[in-house]
Amino acid sequence: MALREETMFLSVVVFVSFSVTSAVGHTEPAADSSYVAAVYEHHLILNPEPHVTLSRAAALQHVQKNLDIYEEQAARAARQGAQILVFPEDGLHGFNFSRSSISSYLETIPDPELESWNPCTEPGRYNNTEVLQRLSCMARRHNLYLVANMPDHQPCPLTTSPSSSCPSDGRWQFNTNVVFRSDGQLVARYHKQNLYFEEAFDTPPQPEIITFDTPFAGRFGLLICFDILFHEPTISLVERGVRQLIYPTAWMNQLPLLDTIQFQRAFSLGANVTLLAANIRNDKLIMTGSGIYTPFSATYHHAQIGDPEEGRLLVARVPVLDPLWVGQSVDGEEGLVREESTSSKDTDSGYCHQETCFDSSHPETASTVSPLSVTFVSSMMYDPYTFVLLNETEGKLNVCYGTFCCHLQYRQLPQGTSKELYALGAFAGTHTVNGRFALQVCALVRCAGSEASSCGQEVEEAETKMDFLLEGKFGTRYVYPSVLASHMVLEQPEHLEKTADGRMTMKHSNMTGGLVTACLYGRMYHLGPMNELL
Ligand SMILES: *[C@@H]1O[C@H](CO)[C@@H](O)[C@H](O)[C@H]1NC(C)=O
Ligand SMILES: *[C@@H]1O[C@H](CO)[C@@H](O)[C@H](O)[C@H]1NC(C)=O
Ligand SMILES: *[C@@H]1O[C@H](CO)[C@@H](O)[C@H](O)[C@H]1NC(C)=O
Ligand SMILES: *[C@@H]1O[C@H](CO)[C@@H](O)[C@H](O)[C@H]1NC(C)=O
Ligand SMILES: *[C@@H]1O[C@H](CO)[C@@H](O)[C@H](O)[C@H]1NC(C)=O
Repeated sequence: MALREETMFLSVVVFVSFSVTSAVGHTEPAADSSYVAAVYEHHLILNPEPHVTLSRAAALQHVQKNLDIYEEQAARAARQGAQILVFPEDGLHGFNFSRSSISSYLETIPDPELESWNPCTEPGRYNNTEVLQRLSCMARRHNLYLVANMPDHQPCPLTTSPSSSCPSDGRWQFNTNVVFRSDGQLVARYHKQNLYFEEAFDTPPQPEIITFDTPFAGRFGLLICFDILFHEPTISLVERGVRQLIYPTAWMNQLPLLDTIQFQRAFSLGANVTLLAANIRNDKLIMTGSGIYTPFSATYHHAQIGDPEEGRLLVARVPVLDPLWVGQSVDGEEGLVREESTSSKDTDSGYCHQETCFDSSHPETASTVSPLSVTFVSSMMYDPYTFVLLNETEGKLNVCYGTFCCHLQYRQLPQGTSKELYALGAFAGTHTVNGRFALQVCALVRCAGSEASSCGQEVEEAETKMDFLLEGKFGTRYVYPSVLASHMVLEQPEHLEKTADGRMTMKHSNMTGGLVTACLYGRMYHLGPMNELL
């Protein structure tokens, strides 16, 4: 497929400014409270036979190749002034290990809450910590905070007690983020809570809510990949006021609703947080899409078909979002906060339950929308959405899934010859394929073809620009908004508004590209279940 040159080379887009006058307020902090963040999308060198157990020396030889790339990128990031650099999930070792074949890659990562350790300056304290040492020295050499992901091995006591959660082979194996301070000290360790088909790893016995403090921007919280869709640890961090989240990921793209940059942007806007997202770049695994997102800006990269398969460093100056940050560090007290979550599933105080709160008489629409609009069911992201087609150049539509309804006002702008089909879809229920989680979603999508049955399928390009207002009344306050235009370009919604009764409105116009998806993605955390994918 021939891509236009601009889209191939201008895949980094920065929203310089835009006007938003919404309830999802956008008051920029004072200009001086800012810092420089960097994320690296890594084209990792894979172990070609991840099911074969290597010797420690061979495993290290493999990891060193990826560490060499990290080293180069840390130097580049430092030259651009980066104060914190984030590398992706699985970026050093790769994928598809079994519980035993990953063993030679494991290092026992001490708990930084219990002891202070600088692996670079005190390499002799623990054997078998070559990777930790190298990462620590990298942070120290380039004088920046460095976040990487690696596998952790923690022996646990084998007991016959049925309540013991120690695996039967006497060790935990965790998918782990490690954070090094700019002098090399290990300051945080986070074990991934929501595993995604990772047979090499265990779920930690309790969700870990891990943050660390920096002298330049205050507090950051840690999560990994699939965690972003769940209450633990992500929403627990946000509810504790942590507004700067670090997000190593290895995310397989899935249009039309869960492409990397689309959901990263949506999460940052919906939760009103900064997200530093670093993904893997691998075409075969459909992985690309990283960015530095704040509620006010997005600096991102999403490779296109035909782009060379290579890494990408993104660097951006962003505002500090820690409300408690006072702009100075207390000597020697760069705090580490670690709290065990109470694992409460009920902290999402959604405004009401979906069965009881929906007000079907939307003042503007009930009278003007034909009740006879023909709806149909089509599968989108493996869920049975109720859809209605946009069959005019402009109009108003409603579509409901049970009692959950979505409303759209739209005007398609004439684009020459193109006759692209669009549909408005609604879904409320539990998504069950590749993870279980409860949703309420309103989505305006371009259908992949000219048949209604193609609505909900993946499509990446569109020519039709549209002015629209998309609205739903949600039983959760966690609704993640996104506007994705042709060729993986994000648009900043012009206006977002959330009312106390759960109504979320997204208004947008003057698109720069054709509309692929406009979405309000509501997560009903309080309806559970927790991720049951093990
Ligand atoms: C989002 O954050 C900004 C700036 O930190 C704040 O002023 C605003 O009130 C927040 N918006 C919402 C909806 O919480
Ligand atoms: C991992 O396994 C999946 C499914 O078996 C396969 O599609 C994928 O290519 C494998 N990835 C790697 C890096 O070996
Ligand atoms: C590291 O391994 C060496 C050789 O096996 C051993 O002599 C030494 O005591 C070990 N050091 C630590 C800190 O465990
Ligand atoms: C669009 O659909 C509505 C409701 O199904 C119908 O009344 C209207 O005639 C349709 N318009 C066109 C142009 O087909
Ligand atoms: C959209 O573009 C039109 C014409 O350029 C302009 O008058 C209008 O103010 C723009 N609207 C917004 C919300 O930017």
